[in-house]
Amino acid sequence: MPDRLAPPASAASRLSAEGIALTYDRTEVISELSVHIPDGGFTVIIGPNACGKSTLLRGLSRLLAPARGQVVLDGRSISRYPAKEVARRLGLLPQSAIAPEGITVADLVARGRYPYQHLVRQWSPQDERAVARALEDTATTELAERQVDELSGGQRQRVWVAMVLAQQTDLLLLDEPTTYLDVAHQIELMELFSDLHAAGRTVVAVLHDLNQAARYATHVIAMREGRILAEGPPREVITSARVEAVFGLPNVVIADPVTGGPLVVPRGGRAPSTAPPDAVHGEVPAAPVPSAAGEGR
Ligand SMILES: Nc1ncnc2c1ncn2[C@@H]1O[C@H](COP(=O)(O)OP(=O)(O)OP(=O)(O)O)[C@@H](O)[C@H]1O
Ligand SMILES: [Mg+2]
Repeated sequence: MPDRLAPPASAASRLSAEGIALTYDRTEVISELSVHIPDGGFTVIIGPNACGKSTLLRGLSRLLAPARGQVVLDGRSISRYPAKEVARRLGLLPQSAIAPEGITVADLVARGRYPYQHLVRQWSPQDERAVARALEDTATTELAERQVDELSGGQRQRVWVAMVLAQQTDLLLLDEPTTYLDVAHQIELMELFSDLHAAGRTVVAVLHDLNQAARYATHVIAMREGRILAEGPPREVITSARVEAVFGLPNVVIADPVTGGPLVVPRGGRAPSTAPPDAVHGEVPAAPVPSAAGEGR
């Protein structure tokens, strides 16, 4: 049984998995997993490479049908919705999306509006506004006429995020949305997701940066080998012992000097230890906070 550190199943949840098994051909990646995504939360999924994070997002978004169990969206099995209906409720940013050759940024982002189009309702001013807003929010407006395959990795990543935002869904599932981004753009996007969450959207993101997970998540799910090892508030999930159990990484957890939340510092085997003696054996209660005094501000 995973460590459940937060009020779980009873909390309202529009999206949940009930005992799902997820397999590729004959390889079973996830055998029996249940999870409730907290409504209005900012859930971050952490875990080592190949533990099944992307597979879980694929299952939750109906890209991959469970071999056993079911995913429930708004009270109904997700498999029973028409595809466009799912896409109006839930947006997925896959880990490695591939754009059609030669497509422009504006056209790719416009594809986020596809779930709203049908025979009698073609492109509308509302679609136009949604695309303009998504470009603006991801600082990609000036790229609109460029071809996606000519962009840098970071620019391209922001364009994909714009496409998902243009979809205007209440539920956002993001698989490593900040990969390829420089540190300033990472924070910019994390702040954007945080704003969307503050405005009432439910955000689920897979992240490798534990410190960003600690800073932005309201709920952390730690996975290993296809299972949930622990879930709950970041302060309770991101502890030195658990980070070592999940990633096999010796570390110390100190207080983030900006937020006071957990900040994971890898110990590493080879570097000579310059840590204070009490840091070597476990968690340090507080980080040395850089003094603001005397900085002339
Ligand atoms: N399309 C596929 N066909 C077969 N096996 C797959 C496929 N996609 C993933 N796998 C396997 O499933 C397991 C879980 O992969 P998954 O992509 O879910 O990991 P992950 O936790 O997202 O890892 P990462 O951090 O590297 O993105 C891996 O062993 C992987 O090789
Ligand atoms: Mg992945």
